[in-house]
Order: sequence, then C-alpha cells, then structure tokens
Amino acid sequence: MNSVKGSSRDGPVLVTGGAGYIGTHIGAALMKAGHRIVILDNFSNSTPLAVDRLNSLGLGCAELVEGDVHDEALLDRVFSADRFSGVIHLAGVKAVGESVAEPIRYYDINVGGALSLVAAMVRHQISRLIFSSTATVYGDPAKLPVAEDASLQPEHPYGRSKLMIEQMLQDVAAAQPWMRIMSLRYFNPVGAHPSGRIGEDPKGIPNNLFPYIAQTAVGVRDEVRVFGDDWPTPDGTGIRDYLHVMDVAEGHVAALTHLIDGGGKSGRNLAVNLGSGHGTSVLEVIRAFREATGREIPYRILGRRPGDVAAYWADPTYAERLFGWTAKLSMAEICRDHWNWQSANPDGYK
Ligand code: WQD
Repeated sequence: MNSVKGSSRDGPVLVTGGAGYIGTHIGAALMKAGHRIVILDNFSNSTPLAVDRLNSLGLGCAELVEGDVHDEALLDRVFSADRFSGVIHLAGVKAVGESVAEPIRYYDINVGGALSLVAAMVRHQISRLIFSSTATVYGDPAKLPVAEDASLQPEHPYGRSKLMIEQMLQDVAAAQPWMRIMSLRYFNPVGAHPSGRIGEDPKGIPNNLFPYIAQTAVGVRDEVRVFGDDWPTPDGTGIRDYLHVMDVAEGHVAALTHLIDGGGKSGRNLAVNLGSGHGTSVLEVIRAFREATGREIPYRILGRRPGDVAAYWADPTYAERLFGWTAKLSMAEICRDHWNWQSANPDGYK
C-alpha cells in the first residue's frame, strides 16, 4: 500500500495549463488510460474550445476550472473538492524571445505560479507532482546526446525560470519526504493527435518551426524562414530533437503510473529527459513534411536567430530505465499528424 499521505491512487489528476497544446494531448492520453482529469487554465494562451474538442474524442470528459495557479483560495477549493491522485503542472509562459524582454512577468508566472501550486499541495498533502520542464535548462550542451547529468546553463529567463522551479521543487522534496516529484525536460514536442481534432494553435506568428511549416503548407504563410545555413552541422541548418506530442503525453502517463505504483524517490525531485534521441535539421524537417503531405514548402535562407544554438538532442535512456518510456512515433508520422490537424483547422480552434 502506498504510504504517501493525502493522495489517492484513483482520484482525478489535476492538469494545470491543460487547455494548451501539450496539456490537451496529455489529457487525451490520461483519459485513454482511465484517469479522470480536472483542467485548470486561465486561457491566457489557450481556449476553452480546445477542451470541448478534447471532450469530443470519446475518451472521457475533462472537468474544466477557469483560473490561475496564483489564486491560492481557488487551489484550496479545487483540492478540497476531491482526493487527487496527482498534479501535472504545465501552466506557464514559454517564449524564449519574450522572456528576454519581460523577465519579471516570466519569473512571476512560472516561478511564482509553481510556488503557489506546490504550497497548496503541501497544505492538502497531495504527494505526487510532475512538472513540465524544458531541455533549454541545458543551454548549449558541451556534448551530445544530452543526458540529465549535463551541466545546467540556461541562456535566457525562460530557461532560468524552469531551472529555478526544478531547484525549488528539489528543496520542497527534501523538506517533505512524503512527496514524490518529477521534472520532465521536454525537447521539441511537435505533431498532433491522430484524430486531427486537437493540435497546436499558436497565437499570432508562430515562433516555432513546425507550426510555421504547417501554416506554410496550408497557405497561411508564404514561405518558411530558415534561420541560418552556416551552423556547424552536416547541411548547415539547426538540429533539434523533435518528438511526437503523443509520445510526450504517454511519457506523462508512464511517469504518473510510476509514482502511483510507489516509484519516485523520497527527498528527491527526479529530472528526466523526454526526447526521441534523434537529431533532425531544419532542411530535413522541410523535406520530411513535403514527403509526408505532398505539399510544396517554399523556404528562404536568412541569418541566424539570436539565442539559437547549433544542435541538441536527448539521451532518452533514463526515462526508459525509470518508467519504461521511449518515443515511438517517427518523423513521417509527426508530419502526417501535424498536417492532418493543420489542414482540417487552417485557423486553429477559431
Ligand atoms: C527549431 C529549429 C531554429 C523557426 C523552442 C524553445 C523550447 C521549446 C521549443 C518551450 C531551430 C529553426 C525555427 C523558424 C527556423 N519551447 N527555425 N525557422 O528554438 O529549438 O525550442 O521551442 O519549451 O524551450 O526554446 O524550437 O521550433 O523555435 O526552432 O529555421 O521559423 O528551427 O533556428 O534550429 P527551439 P524552434
């Protein structure tokens, strides 16, 4: 019998930021695995329409609470209403360039929000927490692939805010040894649920490569801007570890199951990579998207983007050892599913 306080094994899972891109896909995987979920979201970068779509998949019905993780009274009401089996914390802001311009907002929302949430969990003795961290805590890695013991040198306020939260959760875990905490470091989540009913719907001009390529393929954008072809890589363009958002979602189900089954480590916040272990260049992604969709993807080579690094991809073996997870979906399946969503929803959820 699990000795941890407060949490039940079969209570609902609270998914903060659960109306967002990653959150809706995690919600789909959790409900498919038989969990009940409660989504807490302030819709600052998402829409309740996404939750309607999630609930239309026939996997279950997510309960939706509109609000902010800073609202301690709201968290007390939510946590008093049920015995939660765990919390997956995604709510936050995540645009690198924006974080450089607005550090106070990034630390307030990301670090302040996580602090408010974990304080409420301690008050209500909810023991299991999975935190959405990021591979950018590694900065420009000295060697590849990147393992969890690589040096942590984030290069912008967004990455620093995520590392601060990991360190704060480590201190909380040490002070509350009954808690079981994991920080999952995402590489580059892309793609969409195979139904084409939920997917990535960035506001305004996409910062990231995949939504920009998909919007170019569907005609919303004229051409893809390739940020530099003079990187020290085989074809000169940047290399990243792209993994299907459904693989990311399954990684959360596997990690939560591991905690519910008594896994995790007393006194420790375990940091775990979620990556495919493969690197793909910008030009290789464009080629894969063209091959998977038959769509022409016009592009233009421009200069490097400030803050970019040449290449990184994950050493994903710790996740496999700890909770038996590996990314299973290929680049072709990523492109097919991303296109399936984009072509059916050229204007996103609007
Ligand atoms: C990928 C590659 C670009 C856009 C960021 C955040 C990270 C995570 C994922 C939150 C790079 C190139 C991009 C474009 C391009 N977000 N590119 N043209 O920068 O690896 O990661 O998003 O957690 O924290 O840092 O992803 O998709 O922006 O860039 O050539 O229009 O594509 O130079 O090589 P990135 P990305």
